[in-house]
Amino acid sequence: MKVLSVVGARPQFVKLAPVAAAFRASHHDHVIVHTGQHYDTRMSDVFFADLQIPAPDVHLGVGSGSHGVQTGAMLGALDGVLAEHRPDWVLVYGDTNSTLAGALSAVKMHLPVAHLEAGLRSRNRRMPEEHNRVLTDHAADLLLAPTQVAVDHLAAEGLGHRTVLVGDVMTDVCFRVRDAVRDTKPDLPEGVTAEGDGYLVSTIHRAENTDDPDRLRAIVDALAGLPCPVVLLAHPRLVSRAAEHDIELRRGAIAALHPLPYPEMVSAVLRSRGVVTDSGGLQKEAFLLGVPCTTLRGETEWPETLVDGWNVLAGDLTAVGDLALRPRPQAPGGAPYGDGRAAQRVVATLVERQAAN
Ligand code: UD1
Repeated sequence: MKVLSVVGARPQFVKLAPVAAAFRASHHDHVIVHTGQHYDTRMSDVFFADLQIPAPDVHLGVGSGSHGVQTGAMLGALDGVLAEHRPDWVLVYGDTNSTLAGALSAVKMHLPVAHLEAGLRSRNRRMPEEHNRVLTDHAADLLLAPTQVAVDHLAAEGLGHRTVLVGDVMTDVCFRVRDAVRDTKPDLPEGVTAEGDGYLVSTIHRAENTDDPDRLRAIVDALAGLPCPVVLLAHPRLVSRAAEHDIELRRGAIAALHPLPYPEMVSAVLRSRGVVTDSGGLQKEAFLLGVPCTTLRGETEWPETLVDGWNVLAGDLTAVGDLALRPRPQAPGGAPYGDGRAAQRVVATLVERQAAN
């Protein structure tokens, strides 16, 4: 069996890591295509190096642009690559423009498509990711769902017959890295320590939070006013929008830092007192690492994290200060994201369903 993975943005490299390892341990061919959506070393190369992902076989180098320009450039470049490789499956990951482009390109060429992390829904039609998810799920032939909630969403949309519950591959990598960094000290900004009042870790990058200057200013004000240090792992979109709107990131409680490599991020979160974020992945990683999370959105695709207040939605920003400093919930959050062996199930399911194609 030959499987061609299409990836392009940071969270996809994290998801690719355990899948690529599972393919390496099998006798199947795995071709990696990087669209180039994320191109900064810190957003891309370090993930391949740290997570031991083989270098991409093909790099499309599309870079940034408006949604149409970026997605269109990927579509134009993918045709030739898919025609050359003719894989048994095209595997697409998550909800970015690279996901949609991979799925669309493959179905038009009559190549079977599998969507990893299928069935997530925010019901927020203002999010580009929500359209990418819904369109990809409806185009794909095989829907690899991470949770029972995702399976239920797909069944409700008439896609139950294409769905398989495999568990969450991000849990595979998160647990592996957590165990590897448990005894290492995170590289924190000057003066920030886990002792005493501790520190918070924050990331902000969603278009809904960065593109409206008033909202972005309100978020930065809320973080800057907190009584303990906030280690802000600033995504390039945040840095560029803040500069555009003249919003200073380095002030008050905020210790602004560049994005961290995955192991360092896990290490920093593990020792933090809490996370404040709008990232889907980081909400779940906080939950898996047993750290309370405050999510700067009105909804979440990972509702399992909300159990017992491990994750709290703070889309209206009014109570961010109190929420971010709340104590760790007493009750354990359970294991809704699987056992850390989802990637093997992905490979097994692709083999099984290939026979049916
Ligand atoms: C994308 C995904 C989002 C995912 C996020 C993770 C879409 C629609 N969005 O959002 O779902 O959660 O990645 O990071 O696909 N930039 C750089 N260097 C880079 C990458 C981006 O400077 O390596 C800057 C560019 O100015 C670009 C902006 O960041 O215009 C946004 O990048 P883009 O890939 O369009 O979307 P993200 O906001 O990263």
